[in-house]
Amino acid sequence: MPIALHERHPSFAAEIQGIDMRQPATPEVVSEIEAAIDRFPVLVFPEQHITDEQQVAFTRPFGELQVSTAARTGREQRLNAEMTDASNISAENRVLEAGDARRMNNLGSRRWHTDGSFNRVPVKYSLLSGRIVAEQGGETQLADMRAAYDSLPDNLKLTIEDLLAHHSLIHSRAVVGFAEASPDERTILATVSQRLVRRHPRTRRKSLYLSNHAAHIVGWPIPEGLDLLYDLMDRATQPAHVYTHKWRVGDLLMWDNRVTMHRARRHYPENTPRDMRRTSIMDVGNTVEQAA
Ligand code: OGA
Ligand code: MN
Repeated sequence: MPIALHERHPSFAAEIQGIDMRQPATPEVVSEIEAAIDRFPVLVFPEQHITDEQQVAFTRPFGELQVSTAARTGREQRLNAEMTDASNISAENRVLEAGDARRMNNLGSRRWHTDGSFNRVPVKYSLLSGRIVAEQGGETQLADMRAAYDSLPDNLKLTIEDLLAHHSLIHSRAVVGFAEASPDERTILATVSQRLVRRHPRTRRKSLYLSNHAAHIVGWPIPEGLDLLYDLMDRATQPAHVYTHKWRVGDLLMWDNRVTMHRARRHYPENTPRDMRRTSIMDVGNTVEQAA
């Protein structure tokens, strides 16, 4: 069945039909989706009622699967190591209560970020499956970082062209008031550098590479660097650059982390389950090794 694209946002989001994720992606499907995601970095696949095993098998042909941060740092987990649990549900199948470390760990996702920018090799594609969606709220918002870069004034583009930022999960957790980290986590999650401006290897378009994991600008005094990062963050997340995804059960949202940021919105009633499960494909290297 040929695939069909229907625009959901003029510059960067589309719905894609004609894919059945219960089957592993064939090489043809991989290249069709890669061509589609180059044009629309956010793809919505409706009606994909899949198991974890099917999600992993569909994702694997796109590259190297990421092992979840929770699995790498030895945190207790509900799902297997190739799934990142973006839900508010415990291993005992209960909604996590306020103050629970597992819940606080996921609250960082409510700030604008890109997946895995705190790893030396970050995440390229994220595939987020909506298993239980909220009655109200709980949207995922994404921002087009190519459009954000294009809209910057020329003098600001010049300032940031070759800058590097330090990224750290310890930092982004601390920003939301979650300072707890084991010695193992401090070692595994050591700060990494990433470019602030990157170029997509296939489309050759430049984009801003921002994230709540970005802690400061390398070589700059911390307040100067944070001021720049907050300014860029404000510019990048203006409504014109943002797509808001309202979830339906069975939706799978796939995005290219190299050219987008995203965040989860609060949902209601707050003590109800929201079950979101992500598989992720690693990028090919650290952004500092790539020319802008
Ligand atoms: C993620 C994430 C957002 C959401 O899975 O990486 O940020 O809306 N999820 O759950
Ligand atoms: Mn995320």
